[in-house]
Amino acid sequence: MPRAIISPSVLASDFGQLSAECTRMIKGGAEWLHMDVMDGHFVPNITMGKSHPSCTLRPRLTAPGAPILACVSKGVPGIFMDCHMMVAEPEKWVNDIADAGGALYCFHLEATTDPLSVIKLIRARNMKVGVAISPDTPSTAITDEVANAADMLLVMTVYPGRGGQKFLERCVSKVADLRARFPDKDIEVDGGVGPNTIDACAHAGSNVIVAGTAIFNAPNPEDVIATLKATVNT
Ligand code: DX5
Ligand code: ZN
Repeated sequence: MPRAIISPSVLASDFGQLSAECTRMIKGGAEWLHMDVMDGHFVPNITMGKSHPSCTLRPRLTAPGAPILACVSKGVPGIFMDCHMMVAEPEKWVNDIADAGGALYCFHLEATTDPLSVIKLIRARNMKVGVAISPDTPSTAITDEVANAADMLLVMTVYPGRGGQKFLERCVSKVADLRARFPDKDIEVDGGVGPNTIDACAHAGSNVIVAGTAIFNAPNPEDVIATLKATVNT
């Protein structure tokens, strides 16, 4: 199984200190930062909306979240932004997220009828490709062709749309299915993951761990990051 990668979800961070929060996580041992982009269509909420008033960088960017990601990219040199695109029409935002410094573009299978075309667009902009499934989508919806064209598969363990929800245990079997089919692929879990739920995720075979409230609300985030990492790597 690939090694552990911890990707704290900045949705749970202090947005007024976004760059500092990301830097704090990297210093605490996180490899990636998970950027949740919501458009108000694919999911009801909007995050990292497109007209952030205090952001003066790259004003031409129009993707949901892109101006904010561009600010973070500039403020935290070398950051790996794991962009979770909870958006309709994911093909529309590939260029803006790439311009903003996104390193991985993860779109939802439910949001497109032509995942291979979306993957081609992402590859053309030299970003890594992630394909996400929501709780009601079976793992079999990810065909071998799509999985083999992707770098990472994301199994949502809550319904996409907001942080701080309860972990859905029933999604874990999908991780195990995918790990059996794709032994070398990065498999990410997202939603309600923390020290209390990591055992099931790691045992099923996920290696990319997203955690928002469990990390940012902890008195010592670096301890939580270390625990999550050690559980996956043992
Ligand atoms: C939910 C988001 C998650 C969320 C995770 O729609 O995709 O990334 O921020 O937050 P926690 O870890 O608090 O469930
Ligand atoms: Zn997410």
